[in-house]
Amino acid sequence: MDIRHLKYFVAVVEEQSFTKASERLFIAQPPLSRQIQNLEDELGLQLLQRGSRPVKTTDAGQFFYQHAKKVLSNIEQMVSMTKRVGKTDQTLKIGFVGSLLLGLLPQIIYEFRKLLPNVSIDLVEMGTLEQMEALKKGEIDVSFGRLKFSDPSIRRILLRNEPLVLAINKYHPLAQHNDGVHLADIVDEVILCYPNTGNQNFANYINNLFAEHGLTPSNIKYLSNIQLALGIVASGEGVCIVPYNSRSIHMANLQYLPILDIGAVSPIFLSFQEGNDNEYIHLLLRTIELIYQKIEIDTKITLTQTFN
Ligand code: BEZ
Repeated sequence: MDIRHLKYFVAVVEEQSFTKASERLFIAQPPLSRQIQNLEDELGLQLLQRGSRPVKTTDAGQFFYQHAKKVLSNIEQMVSMTKRVGKTDQTLKIGFVGSLLLGLLPQIIYEFRKLLPNVSIDLVEMGTLEQMEALKKGEIDVSFGRLKFSDPSIRRILLRNEPLVLAINKYHPLAQHNDGVHLADIVDEVILCYPNTGNQNFANYINNLFAEHGLTPSNIKYLSNIQLALGIVASGEGVCIVPYNSRSIHMANLQYLPILDIGAVSPIFLSFQEGNDNEYIHLLLRTIELIYQKIEIDTKITLTQTFN
């Protein structure tokens, strides 16, 4: 049995058809069928249900498929990591979610560049889900995101929990509550959420936050990005929950209030491919720690923590 057998089998299971799998693999159908037959002969059992259309796996076939996927993913990672290690001119690619630019990210990267003048650092904006794929493919080395994703091949480190605040028009009656508001106070307001694409995103996180407090907002509007959402709040429609550092966005009539509920925070994670915690990542973590100390953010970063 070799890698080719695994690739062929995975393609047949995923396409549920020998014809489509052979197109995907750019081979003719008879050799594909022969290779699957060889695999079954070698294992001494059936992996695919005979005569099923679309093609279905047996229980053993499903088990084999899950493990074959893992083996192929490990090989892909090994190839990408080896390619990177072999590069002489080092480039470090860092994925990040856009909202982090409003906070400490520019400062962190500026200090980090100073420590590594010979390494070129590429910043690439991408959503957290995209980051996970890019890390696995070796397209980026490390990433900063706000959402928890479970993937055994990705190591995630919680840097800190950034408080959430409420962006509100200064003429809104609640804007006088300078000490802060509760989520229950705004549940019947128009809640502006962003982004308006995908479903595992910051908008979804805010929805879950209300749900965790037993609340269902009656009127949620989705917008593409934070600037648009804040602009609409400033214009007099709705309120918007944003990370604390977004207070750096100033607009006429826009005001920010603390949110008093427990758990009204947005975690910030650093992620990298499991096994790839090289000296740059350690250095990046130390840089972040130093900046946190300087501005008195109280958090404990540890490389041993995992959240898979
Ligand atoms: C922070 O605000 O804590 C942060 C932002 C970007 C990267 C790392 C940390």
